[in-house]
Amino acid sequence: MTILVSGGCGFIGSNFIIDWLSREKEKIINLDNLTYAGNINNLSSVKDNDDYVFIHGDIGDKSTVSKILETYNPRAVINFAAESHVDRSIYGPEPFIKTNIVGTFHFLEAIRSYWENLAEINKNNFRFLHISTDEVYGSLSSEAPPFKETNPYEPNSIYSASKAASDHLVRAYHHTYRLPTLTSNCSNNYGPYQFPEKLIPLVIYNALSGKQLPIYGDGKNIRDWLFVSDHCSAIRLILNAGKVGETYNIGGLNEKTNLEVVQTLCSILDELQPRDDGFSYATQISFITDRAGHDRRYAIDATKIQEELGWQPIQSFETGIYQTVKWYIKNSDWVQNITSGAYQDWIKKRYAV
Ligand code: NAD
Ligand code: DAU
Repeated sequence: MTILVSGGCGFIGSNFIIDWLSREKEKIINLDNLTYAGNINNLSSVKDNDDYVFIHGDIGDKSTVSKILETYNPRAVINFAAESHVDRSIYGPEPFIKTNIVGTFHFLEAIRSYWENLAEINKNNFRFLHISTDEVYGSLSSEAPPFKETNPYEPNSIYSASKAASDHLVRAYHHTYRLPTLTSNCSNNYGPYQFPEKLIPLVIYNALSGKQLPIYGDGKNIRDWLFVSDHCSAIRLILNAGKVGETYNIGGLNEKTNLEVVQTLCSILDELQPRDDGFSYATQISFITDRAGHDRRYAIDATKIQEELGWQPIQSFETGIYQTVKWYIKNSDWVQNITSGAYQDWIKKRYAV
């Protein structure tokens, strides 16, 4: 048996593949077109595993996708591939439309033709799991209840609008063609292999490089943080036991303001790798101009996946964030390798004063 994942060289996809190969005896094919966020070295620990195959290609390239499906005959597909950074979607929206909307459409088309020609039993057992985000629900006020699966979609950024469009396509492919789809909407992930353009790895990297720790606006925006391996366990459960056509919210039950997150990172770094001058890394905090259209608060109500599938996150924010800081300190080579060239260009453009 085989599964196909797309976007497996990114942050969540690579964690998922490494977890998968350590638990399952099932082949996993990884289709990734290696954008700036895709790093083949994330998977160097499994590259010689007989159950792992990497294919360099685009989800929007129907003929490549069809060839992969015919060759490997997967029983399931998990779609991680996307442009994923909100700030980049503000500075250059086009790739978000191209991959998240048009790419997902071509991917679904190739999968539909493959699925329609499967034998009846394989057809019934086939699954397409689409990995989405809580950002499609929009922004919550401080007293509003967390997002449930029944909340209306109100995406505010180009990124979340493009993800919402892809979720709607997936829903329509189920409703119209009966393609056996599942969708998960998860909150903010953190952990190893996250590209240092996102808040947590960016702050760790900047702190250790003696740079400013940029906090947008007043730092009181709230995110619900989930350790990446807990997201991976939820994905495995949804794939195996989720109800076809349904969506599942996944969240860490860890609502924190950005300022709290950054202060926590500073105190862990103060303990694990104190600055030479004895001052706290917190002295590097700098409040900067807010993100355009910045969503104030996200929070997930994960009751459905907890009650229907028995999912629970294992890591608390305290244990997960400690492990994460340790990982980035230990893997400074990984960070060094990806923070040259194109990364420096992006940082100059984004944080130019
Ligand atoms: P990422 O940016 O780290 O990785 C994306 C991966 O997709 C990269 O390897 C990239 O090369 C690949 N990719 C991009 N366009 C492609 C294309 N056209 N064809 C093939 N591969 C392509 O993203 P991530 O943080 O790992 O997120 C993975 C998925 O999870 C995304 O769909 C994202 O929307 C969703 N998500 C992320 C979070 C989070 O906190 N990071 C939370 C909820 C949902
Ligand atoms: O909620 C799930 C989403 O979480 C995913 O769908 C996205 O792919 C993922 O990127 C993430 O989106 P956010 O915009 O919430 O994550 P980011 O790490 O970019 O920012 C987290 C918060 O920190 C947000 O309120 C903006 C703020 N921030 C971010 C950066 C990069 C800062 O204050 N300073 C920064 O330099």
